[in-house]
Amino acid sequence: MYYKKLLLALMGFAVMGANAQKRIPQVEELLNKMTIEEKIGQLNLLTPGGGVATGEVVSKDVGSKIKNGQVGGLFGVAGPDRVRQAQEIAVNDSRLGIPLLIGSDVIHGYKTTYPIPLGLSSSWDMDLVEQAAQMAAREATADGINWNFSPMVDIARDPRWGRISEGAGEDPYLGSKIGVAMVKGYQGDDLAASHTMLACVKHFALYGAAEAGRDYHSVDMSKIKMFNQYLPPYKAAIDAGAASVMSSFNDVDGVPATGNKWLLTDLLRDQWGFEGFVVSDYTSLNEMIPHGLGDLQAVSALALKAGLDMDMVGEGFLTTLKKSLDEGKVTEADITNACRRVLEAKYISGLFDDPYKYLDSKRPKKDILTDANRALARKLATRSFVLLKNHNNILPLKKQGKIALVGPLADSRENMLGTWAPTGDFNLAVTILEGFKNVAPNASIDYAKGANISDDADFAKNVNSLGERIVIDTRSPEAMLQEAVELAKTSDVVVAVVGEATEMSGESSSRTDISIPESQKKLINALVETGKPVALVLMSGRPLTIPEEFDMPVSILQVWHPGVEAGNAIADVVFGDYNPSGKLTATWPVNVGQIPIYHSAKVTGRPAPESGEFQKFRSNYLDAPNAPLLPFGYGLSYTTFEFGNLKLNKKEIAQDESVSATVTVKNAGDYDGEEVVQLYLRDLVRSITPPKRQLKGFQKVMLKKGESKEVTITLSADDLKFYNAQLEFVSEPGEFEVFVGTNSDAELSETFVLKQ
Ligand code: BGC
Repeated sequence: MYYKKLLLALMGFAVMGANAQKRIPQVEELLNKMTIEEKIGQLNLLTPGGGVATGEVVSKDVGSKIKNGQVGGLFGVAGPDRVRQAQEIAVNDSRLGIPLLIGSDVIHGYKTTYPIPLGLSSSWDMDLVEQAAQMAAREATADGINWNFSPMVDIARDPRWGRISEGAGEDPYLGSKIGVAMVKGYQGDDLAASHTMLACVKHFALYGAAEAGRDYHSVDMSKIKMFNQYLPPYKAAIDAGAASVMSSFNDVDGVPATGNKWLLTDLLRDQWGFEGFVVSDYTSLNEMIPHGLGDLQAVSALALKAGLDMDMVGEGFLTTLKKSLDEGKVTEADITNACRRVLEAKYISGLFDDPYKYLDSKRPKKDILTDANRALARKLATRSFVLLKNHNNILPLKKQGKIALVGPLADSRENMLGTWAPTGDFNLAVTILEGFKNVAPNASIDYAKGANISDDADFAKNVNSLGERIVIDTRSPEAMLQEAVELAKTSDVVVAVVGEATEMSGESSSRTDISIPESQKKLINALVETGKPVALVLMSGRPLTIPEEFDMPVSILQVWHPGVEAGNAIADVVFGDYNPSGKLTATWPVNVGQIPIYHSAKVTGRPAPESGEFQKFRSNYLDAPNAPLLPFGYGLSYTTFEFGNLKLNKKEIAQDESVSATVTVKNAGDYDGEEVVQLYLRDLVRSITPPKRQLKGFQKVMLKKGESKEVTITLSADDLKFYNAQLEFVSEPGEFEVFVGTNSDAELSETFVLKQ
């Protein structure tokens, strides 16, 4: 939206090509001066190192390439001084002086790292998500960054996939809202302002549907599923004005996304009207070679013609496009169009007016890691936690007495930030031990590690390939366990911080077994056997399979990877300064065999009995229930909420009308608290099989203890629509059922009819 508004305000009128759009005169003027080599140069995104190299190639001779006009952008470079050095080469030493885009992966905060995106999504609070993105943009731009490789809006329904941590979970409705909030937060309403940066919607498309949850694996999906379940968040973020899109590693319908014309041009530009530029993922262009699509020249030509504008790191464009042009495999117009899109982004960022606008050396001190930013990170973390279980109301703890704080993550600074936080610094993170002492100074808090994150040396080696996150203690596992048990026995209450190390989720961190590692299971068992009250603080970048732990007499607070304020935020919630309000945004399975599992699954022609009992010749398992351990939208509070009196304002609506559901929510417990009121919709009869129910609205409300509120959620005409077999976005007349409640198993329901 903002991007389009700006373009419209600033552009001239010449129109060319299939993706006709209005032109920016200054960009056209510049294009007229450019040689073909210079145009190709703008399509090249390099990294001189300093970031995370996720592919095998690292850029060389970056300085001389910038000088030669062979670089459109850089990433992995930060700080006003370093960026200035690079920008000065581009501006002063290259023939046309075109400034560089400076990209970065600011996935969950720049230096002030806040919870991993899956955690942040659990807040269901769009204002907070936007504020988080704004803070990230202010910090990153203070350090010279003008382009962010975020938001990642890939729908993920397979928690084996490590990158489920980086997105907003399983649901397209919620995922769309979060994508929009992040784009707004990064881009603001003026991309030329010095505290806003270009967003990059990734990974286009379907990256989260990798077969078997293995990263970078193939994707094969019907168009109906794609359009209804997987594409909406990309579209929403693009409609919100995202300036760029990143193509994904996987194939879509047999063609890698980076060279997929249907995806990058027919759908993205022609159907959706996207006017920004498309960058590849890290060497995803070159990776079309092992995908089996041809040699570097062939795949580069294919990608350009498909609609890719910028090649990340691989230099396929840089080294082969001229040859392809000479051989008639690409046209000059193909190259010019891609170059134009990159230049337009620079123009819109204000870089042509002032290439050094993001390079005020006073800003880092003023804008980065400020007290206010850390306070926001702490607040965001508290809002991301999900109370999974509160046995005997063990939580919240009193800030007194003798507390045994145990577990391999209780005093592990290096695991607090979570995956993809390369700009953050784990040395600045608050451990849980520190947080407890800060928040409950009068309690007696003693710590014992109790277990290694994992005792499996091979597994630890793999996890540690990006830095030492799993430290295998030199003491014997038995001795560690014994120490923790002794401590537990002499304490009033035990808090065990267990789960996954930072690099057990994230990119290239898929797992086939997503339970708590054996070493920690033993610890939990031994602690429970002491008979002391036990609260588990569970840390992970994905839903875990925890059926055994869930059955134990313990409380469980899920905290994801909370970021730089981890310990303080966890203490805020454990000691009741904040009453948890987070809700799961991805279903928690009973076991890996149930995957993929998500709330909006189809009913099938042979639905399993409602009772959950096994029945032969029905769609169920012999050895596990169909129901997950914890449904989408689930999350408890220290108080209890009661829902009642659900009413719809209309029993019948016309095609263009909306309908509102009103429900009374009462805080019936002993604490003030927030509840996320969720509305699910079921289309009872339609031309393609409907999902059992789908999230179509939610509202987070604050209720004082004893207070009741009426909450109204309105369904628009579009909320009733879906993509039919012809991929038309339609609603079909008939009956709909509305469910409202505290999670996706909500039982209160009412029906209405959509008229012919
Ligand atoms: C990831 C992207 C990231 C890029 C640049 C890739 O490996 O898939 O999400 O933006 O690296 O760091």
